[in-house]
Amino acid sequence: MKRRAFLRSVPAYSGLLAMGPLWLGACGEESSTGPGADSGSDLPPLSGASLRLPSTVHPSGTTLTAREGVASFGNDGSAGQALLFGDTLPGPTFRVRNGDRVQTLFRNGLPDGSIVHWHGLDVPDEADGHPRLEVGPGGTFAYDFVVRNRAGTYWYHPHPHGQTGPQTYRGLSGFYIVDDADSDSLGLPTGDRDIPLLIQDRRLDTEGTPTYQPTGFDRMVGYLGDVGFVNGLPFPYLWVDRTHYRFRILNGSNARVFDLALSDGRPFTLIGTDGGLIESPQAMNHVLLGPAERVEVLVDFSNDRAGAEVQLQSRPFVVGGPPSSQGIAMDLMRFAVTASEPRAVAPPTGLPQLPTPADMAGVERQSFTFTSMMGRHVINGRSFEMNRVDARIPLGDPQIWRLVNSSPIPHPVHIHSSQFRILTRDGGRRQVFPWERGLKDTVLLMPFEVVEILVHFSAYRGLYLMHCHNLEHEDAGMMMNFEVA
Ligand code: C2O
Ligand code: CU
Ligand code: CU
Repeated sequence: MKRRAFLRSVPAYSGLLAMGPLWLGACGEESSTGPGADSGSDLPPLSGASLRLPSTVHPSGTTLTAREGVASFGNDGSAGQALLFGDTLPGPTFRVRNGDRVQTLFRNGLPDGSIVHWHGLDVPDEADGHPRLEVGPGGTFAYDFVVRNRAGTYWYHPHPHGQTGPQTYRGLSGFYIVDDADSDSLGLPTGDRDIPLLIQDRRLDTEGTPTYQPTGFDRMVGYLGDVGFVNGLPFPYLWVDRTHYRFRILNGSNARVFDLALSDGRPFTLIGTDGGLIESPQAMNHVLLGPAERVEVLVDFSNDRAGAEVQLQSRPFVVGGPPSSQGIAMDLMRFAVTASEPRAVAPPTGLPQLPTPADMAGVERQSFTFTSMMGRHVINGRSFEMNRVDARIPLGDPQIWRLVNSSPIPHPVHIHSSQFRILTRDGGRRQVFPWERGLKDTVLLMPFEVVEILVHFSAYRGLYLMHCHNLEHEDAGMMMNFEVA
């Protein structure tokens, strides 16, 4: 009976059923968790694993240790070798306020070199986790910077050259959340209704343990898995009360693009993008999220009956290009509704103003072409070299960058040290989507798309990176240095 419940909850296309008798055998032992003290009735226990929530800490004065360890990948007992920040997967959620000074010590307990990058945060270049700053096994790196970002959902992950893919895939990433006076004043859901969701795909071996063994083909399209994971667990559940929730969603996959939607197609309210809150909440019923992109959404469960279940899914979509599993449907997690009193909360009507985009008249333009051919991934024909400066940008001058994907593979392009605005998209989907209108540090270029962005480096001089956030592409050299001077 338990087993039937489990099978019902497993999406047919997730690949779990193909994992063989070991996985299915193991699920006979799974423990189940009830709806908890606040469910208010005798709702049946759910099969599968309850969503894991990493502990939240202020990063200042802390030591962040990366190490090899064992992680559980479900409450069926499956556990395997992983890389962990601290003791958990995801790593601890760092939560700070705009203006805080943060001093964090990174300790490398891995058998390989590493360094940590604070993705989306605007920091001096010596605190940015550039691969030239990699420290060897046993080494440490001291970070010291002042948080200058708006309230929003940022994240951290390793950035050693050639090893970002395996290290991140094997478990190293965490959330970095910034609050400010604006976000305090909006009456957004807080506490256990403010929930970070790290969404990833993984490939499992016959024991149910994630594996990372890229083939030549994987190095071309990126390492795709066929099982969806949220906060380190396959298809977990979360009990939700009949009210609004704020979900901070991060696509932490190496290469997979998700077209996120709720299983009944209900709309949700977008309130934030990579660089924090947007100006006005927007209702929508799906969001296409490439690797490293984030959205913050409000989801309303106040009209659901007790015991109802809604799934968070990735809908199927067509990519074109070499046939791969990119675009397959994937079930990610489910929300189970408790018997709490319904409490409808209207989403805020106004959100903080975004910084006014710089005047675009007469700004300088640069063009960067992302090409994947014959197993190479290059920008403007060149692959990454640690100390070569590929572009020079004057501090404080806005520029328009034209990003060209001249390949049949998606490239999620990421820029360090500045949140940018997306101006236009030509080719491919030919539009800037509602979830791309806020501040962004990563923009998804589907095959043959051309995107123009307005960048503005105004905080720090120094050496920063632009790269594809498909981590196999990045590790293969689809990355370049630019110097803000
Ligand atoms: Cu999220 Cu340069 O990386
Ligand atoms: Cu980054
Ligand atoms: Cu790429």
